[in-house]
Amino acid sequence: MVCRLRLSTYMRLSTVTPAFRRLGRQTFSKANVFHSDRSTTVRGRVPLSIWEKVTAQLHNQSLHPLNILRREIEAHFEKTYPSLFELHSSLSPIVTTEQCFDHLLIPPSHTSRSPTDTYYIDKHTLLRPHMTVHDVPLLRGGSEAFLLCGDVYRRDSVDRTHYPVFHQIDAARLFPCGTSQEYIVDDLKSSLSGLAHHLFGPETRMRWVEGSFPFTSPSFELEIFWRDEWLEVLGCGLIRRGVLQNGNVSNDVNGWAFGLGLERLAMVLFEIPDIRLFWSRDTRFLDQFKDGDFQRKFKPFSAYPSIEKDISFWIGEESTFHENDFHEIVRSLSEDLVESVSMVDRYKRAERTSLCFRIIYRSMERSLTHVEINELHDSLREFVAETLPVTLR
Ligand code: DAH
Repeated sequence: MVCRLRLSTYMRLSTVTPAFRRLGRQTFSKANVFHSDRSTTVRGRVPLSIWEKVTAQLHNQSLHPLNILRREIEAHFEKTYPSLFELHSSLSPIVTTEQCFDHLLIPPSHTSRSPTDTYYIDKHTLLRPHMTVHDVPLLRGGSEAFLLCGDVYRRDSVDRTHYPVFHQIDAARLFPCGTSQEYIVDDLKSSLSGLAHHLFGPETRMRWVEGSFPFTSPSFELEIFWRDEWLEVLGCGLIRRGVLQNGNVSNDVNGWAFGLGLERLAMVLFEIPDIRLFWSRDTRFLDQFKDGDFQRKFKPFSAYPSIEKDISFWIGEESTFHENDFHEIVRSLSEDLVESVSMVDRYKRAERTSLCFRIIYRSMERSLTHVEINELHDSLREFVAETLPVTLR
């Protein structure tokens, strides 16, 4: 029974609950047409575990650490530039490929367009992988300065710092005609280093490094020195002319844009050790945060023991296997009981390659039993064998 329930994770979107269906409306019927060959049964579908996250809006839940941080950043901008930035935090995450890629000059071959990296609902519609998707529509609507916060979706590996849904703040600001590029770059850098000092303290060491984003030029990344290492905290730059043109901005107007990941900042600021905790409803987690207090450190309530299991399989030479598909299945079937997945062995024999992945099962909230993990791991093996182009060993 448990097993059958879990195997329905990838059920067709037509069986998604009415609340989720309302979210996508016109797109859902198209989404029912999935490819049926083995290699694409996982790719090209949005699992239920992801749809369930679409309505969560953690960044809008008061007292949630992501909301506390979001509001601190918004308040900082409001204080520095009174009444300048429009704030948006409820823009729909269901966007078009045109908006997501073409508007932003992302080339046709860019990896973010691949269904191994992005959650497509149908050929032209997807769950936004970054908040920058809203820049061009807002510019077209006449906005000149805005700060956006929302949930973004990416297929990725499973570990303590990656989760398929996370949150970003993205911003853009246009300047009056004729403002020099040097002035705009200075304004961008001083706004962002001001924000970093506000959040991490005036003593924090930081540095600018060259960045590369299709929609900005020049582009920069800000890194802060935290616990003995340089940590990238945001990307930014001058908005490319082509993007401004897509937004119907006149040719003598320039502007900057930046984007940052809220979880990464929150994990550092609040000392939250595992990204899955943001999704926890455990009051031992949620009750530790207070409005307006972004300096509070999280006190882990317990470290529950882990259970490790390996899974090995063969893939053929021409295989369409992609590691992200495997991570996606593990994440979806295990409902947050997996802390990490890592490849521990890979070797080639004749025309085939053997891969071995180690899965660390650990709940954030309770001790796991060997019986339940054996059952879960068996369902995982079964599901992998059925849906991926692999042969279990
Ligand atoms: N969208 C980028 C990402 O998700 C981050 C980013 C970089 C946003 C530069 C921006 C920008 O607005 O100007 O990785």
